[in-house]
Amino acid sequence: MFDPRDPEFLTDPYPAFAALRAEGEVHHHDGLGLAVAVSHGAASAVLRHRGLGRIWTDATPADRFVSFNLLHRNSLLENEPPAHTRLRKLVSSAFARGHVERLRPTVEALAEGMVGMLVEHIAADGQADLLEHLAAPLPVEVIAELLDVPPADRPLLVPWSNAIVKMYEYGLPEDQRDAAERAAGEFAGYLRDLAGSRARQPGEDLVSHLVASELTGDEVVATAVLLLMAGHEATVNVIGNGVAALLTHRAQWDRLVADPGLLPTATEELIRFDSPLQLFERTATKDVEIAGCRVGEGEKIAALLGAAARDPEVFADPDTLDVGRTPNPHLGFGGGIHYCVGAPLARIEIAAALGALTRRLPGLGLAAEPERRAEFVIRGLRTLPVA
Ligand code: HEM
Repeated sequence: MFDPRDPEFLTDPYPAFAALRAEGEVHHHDGLGLAVAVSHGAASAVLRHRGLGRIWTDATPADRFVSFNLLHRNSLLENEPPAHTRLRKLVSSAFARGHVERLRPTVEALAEGMVGMLVEHIAADGQADLLEHLAAPLPVEVIAELLDVPPADRPLLVPWSNAIVKMYEYGLPEDQRDAAERAAGEFAGYLRDLAGSRARQPGEDLVSHLVASELTGDEVVATAVLLLMAGHEATVNVIGNGVAALLTHRAQWDRLVADPGLLPTATEELIRFDSPLQLFERTATKDVEIAGCRVGEGEKIAALLGAAARDPEVFADPDTLDVGRTPNPHLGFGGGIHYCVGAPLARIEIAAALGALTRRLPGLGLAAEPERRAEFVIRGLRTLPVA
């Protein structure tokens, strides 16, 4: 069984997933204390089964994680119907495809500007970190714009978010758990103030929209924080992991440079090929069976999205990167009632980043080996030096 903290596994988890899948669709992971679904069919069933839900249990001791628990207990991602339906309805209209499609020119202009800066850094220093200059700032700027977070406050968002999502990893050291709670407290406090000012002076932004709804104060704060976190934690890593994959599979990069018409399929393929989010848990609300494996009421099972994405039963040559792959029924955005609200926006951001990069820097290459972060659940790079 894989160890989610083993550096060798983290470098390339896919052979371990393939070995597991060859033995069976669902396995018990003693270290994680839950079952893991490693085939596409089983992972998809985990996400969609109505006997499995996202059932929030407070981080403990509860008095040490007051803000962290408040943000999650009131989050649509951590709730099931009817609370989920009520919260989701409010945000889903704002992120509907037609609505976000209008943002495409803005996102493309942002990406273009950031790639322009990247070009300047490369010209000045011979190389630059693509994560720092494009992959990380683009999604944050877009989601901060949607919530109209004042530009001067935006640098606060990523450190808060990064500290909080560390809690989704396994075996987190105590000091990092404390840091997550501190960040949650500051983030919640910040949003509470922002919501207060939007209540007094409403605008056209999403925070004003949430404040004007029937949501409670805690729900407004939790929803806004969720959007700010979910709005960038995955997208940054699709751009980072994705560009790294393209540059190490040069023929695929060259194909994309030659044919920008491949941007939509390339976007899907990069999400599939190196999933930015590897694991989502569900808890059984009654006894259920997934791929012949029983999950008793109260027990947990996780969908391993990266493993599902390489299932040869569904994807021909699953370990081959193919920017023209169609169809591509990956589970990268989830499935069922929690299917990613931000998928249309994420697709626009990724295509805008890749479009600007391939246009302005067709000769782009790695300047050094990218450095990987040590986390498993949120899979990404720390640096991506390019020249
Ligand atoms: C490529 C980038 C992204 C990926 C791969 C991704 C992936 C996912 C996945 C897998 C889920 C489902 C979790 C589960 O079933 O337990 C999800 C839910 C969610 N995502 Fe994304 N996401 C991305 C970008 C975004 C963006 C840009 C936003 C916000 C604008 C966003 C907002 C959300 C929200 C609010 C949910 C919760 C939906 C619910 O519980 O009903 N995501 N995302």
